[in-house]
Amino acid sequence: MSLELRARVREEFRRRFGGEPSFLARAPGRVNLIGDHTDYNEGFVLPMAIDREVWLAVRARADRRVAVHSIDFDEDATFALDDGAARRGGWVEYLRAVAWALEDDGRPTRGWEGVAAGDVPVGAGLSSSAALELATARTFAAISGVVWQPVAMARIAQRAENEFVGVNCGIMDQLISAAGAAGHALLIDCRSLETQLVRIPDSVAVIVLDTGTRRGLVDSAYNERRMQCETAARFFGVRALRDVDVATFAAREAELDPVTRKRARHVITENARTLDAARLLGENNVAGVGALMDESHASLRDDFEVSRNELDTMVEVARKHDACLGARMTGAGFGGCAVALVRREGAAAFARGVSQAYTETIGLQPAVYVCAASQGASVELLD
Ligand code: GLA
Repeated sequence: MSLELRARVREEFRRRFGGEPSFLARAPGRVNLIGDHTDYNEGFVLPMAIDREVWLAVRARADRRVAVHSIDFDEDATFALDDGAARRGGWVEYLRAVAWALEDDGRPTRGWEGVAAGDVPVGAGLSSSAALELATARTFAAISGVVWQPVAMARIAQRAENEFVGVNCGIMDQLISAAGAAGHALLIDCRSLETQLVRIPDSVAVIVLDTGTRRGLVDSAYNERRMQCETAARFFGVRALRDVDVATFAAREAELDPVTRKRARHVITENARTLDAARLLGENNVAGVGALMDESHASLRDDFEVSRNELDTMVEVARKHDACLGARMTGAGFGGCAVALVRREGAAAFARGVSQAYTETIGLQPAVYVCAASQGASVELLD
């Protein structure tokens, strides 16, 4: 939990609005250890919330307006809770989207004023938008006296993103930001939304490796993959690819066209790997988890085709390091970050070595984050 951000939003609140905020709310970004492009196939994912977060310092207002200052964007924004769907773009859309989705779900909202700041890198694939959505949802819940239910709130935030912001994402990012726990990854069944905490052994570090690349066309490629998965599910006569096991796939894969076959193979094998990885992590078999992460990368690269040269290179240089147990691209792909599971005692040398090797090979400066698994969205009442 970032004590520095906590102090900054509080101080800036005093300066801008006078007096003390009544609440501090925070929500984390995430990294996914394994299970990508499985959530919208009603399958399994194993993310953890990271110690990079969005913070809000807030106080209720008497009217139905929200006024927020963003320290990161050095920008003020205000909106009326009842002003419907007019879009303005930018970070404030996420706040408006959550307010809309809460009301639409029958949960009353109230106006507030506040200051926001965060340290989740934007556009890196670490779910800065989910962090902002959940920090906003946590704020509205606190201000309006609504009981905090992590799963319900994650669904509301996902709806905000799908229907208001217009991004067709699955449930993973919002749910881990809502329900993460310190020291743990979270196995999520994206159909039932049942979750199971899996302790991350002290012997390993989870290291995020940002390639420094971003890709603009993520949305259209993402939606195309979703459609290909739906085509495959129809072929097998099931509601989602979650319902096809590896043996059923093997028996009929020859009947599929080559692209649909590859997409389906990724999702079906990734679901199996994710369940195995959760079990092995719980048994402290970190080498086994690492091997599954390596396989997951190959599947995302060759079958799902959402990697790129920089991500492949990052994964290769990471794996060459002695302390590395496994590495893969993480999240939607096409750019952004890889994640590595690394022996704790070698973590610092790994971060330095991989950074240098990546720059030598690609000519780009990566960002490396040694991440601690942190708590999901929370609120602190100040009096
Ligand atoms: C993005 C989406 C998630 C998930 C991942 C891929 O992060 O927001 O819902 O589909 O891509 O695993």
